[in-house]
Amino acid sequence: MSSSTFRAGVVRTPGGPDSIEIIDLPVAEPGPGEVRVAIAAAPVNPVDLAVASGALHRIGLINQPEHTGLGWDFAGTVAAAGPGVDLAPGARVAGLIGGFDRDFGTYAEQLVVPATSVAVVPDGLDLVAASTVPLNALTAAQIVDLLGDAPADGNRLLVTGAAGAVGGYVASLAQDRGWRVTGLARAEDEEFVRGLGADFTTRAEPGWDAVADGAVMQESALALVRDGGVFVGVQPSAKLPAERGIRVDAVMVHPDGPRLAGLLVRTASGELPARVHAVVPLDQVADAHRAVAKGGLRGRYVLTP
Ligand SMILES: NC(=O)c1ccc[n+]([C@@H]2O[C@H](COP(=O)([O-])OP(=O)(O)OC[C@H]3O[C@@H](n4cnc5c(N)ncnc54)[C@H](OP(=O)(O)O)[C@@H]3O)[C@@H](O)[C@H]2O)c1
Repeated sequence: MSSSTFRAGVVRTPGGPDSIEIIDLPVAEPGPGEVRVAIAAAPVNPVDLAVASGALHRIGLINQPEHTGLGWDFAGTVAAAGPGVDLAPGARVAGLIGGFDRDFGTYAEQLVVPATSVAVVPDGLDLVAASTVPLNALTAAQIVDLLGDAPADGNRLLVTGAAGAVGGYVASLAQDRGWRVTGLARAEDEEFVRGLGADFTTRAEPGWDAVADGAVMQESALALVRDGGVFVGVQPSAKLPAERGIRVDAVMVHPDGPRLAGLLVRTASGELPARVHAVVPLDQVADAHRAVAKGGLRGRYVLTP
């Protein structure tokens, strides 16, 4: 990297992993309330595969004239802080950028973000592990907000995909609000799911007070909710119609630095999982996308720029 440009992974004409390009972009200085972060680690999440495939361009969620940035969450160190920001250069931070339609992302050496979107990474949590927290733990926390407090007379929550990133965090965090959690996952995930303090099943019968759909089973997961229960999905662009008196919601994650700080503390203490499958250089991003597309991984590919 020269001092005036940085490398970033983007798609110009999206068409799957091979359409990802590494380009040079000009370094920008942070404005008031912003920080420029030197990114140390950025995970590959399922949404990045959807962006690179062009699926989100085709349904009109992305309309970038030049290129679309890839990557939602990151960890790194503060390179420069704008006016009004109380973070010193060198501070270790993690954070999230939201929204699909943007020309910048976290698959990059540098990122300028609002300081309110980042949180300090506690000592003892390395930046690779920390980078896997923001998108999926915040999504889970915001799913739990949508679930609300468990009613005393109906607190049985089924979490589909409970061995996945979002589902694993929901299975853990929902217990804070009084939910009695059962995780639906593959047979080989039983130990992980039970380790979160949840019950475990590979096949769920209908009748749950609430379902959080981390596996994106959609209609078949909604069918598991009892009449008058609650369903929270993860695909707001394909939100299901309500039926049988069920309250149907779909999460759309948004950055929240203060909330993230607490989630990172709980990760550093080992209370929440941080699962890393492999660490690969940004240049190998296409291989990482191909591996994630095959499914079955139980931790993130993390890119190092
Ligand atoms: N709306 C938002 O703001 C938001 C934010 C974050 C993520 N998301 C979305 O949430 C979804 C989940 O993301 P993630 O990162 O958690 O994905 P992930 O880590 O791949 O987790 C999905 C899990 O579901 C499991 N699964 C799928 N079908 C199943 C079935 N029939 N029975 C049991 N388990 C099943 C998968 O197992 P296998 O690997 O064995 O198939 C995997 O463990 C993605 O679509 C993502 O884009 C949405």
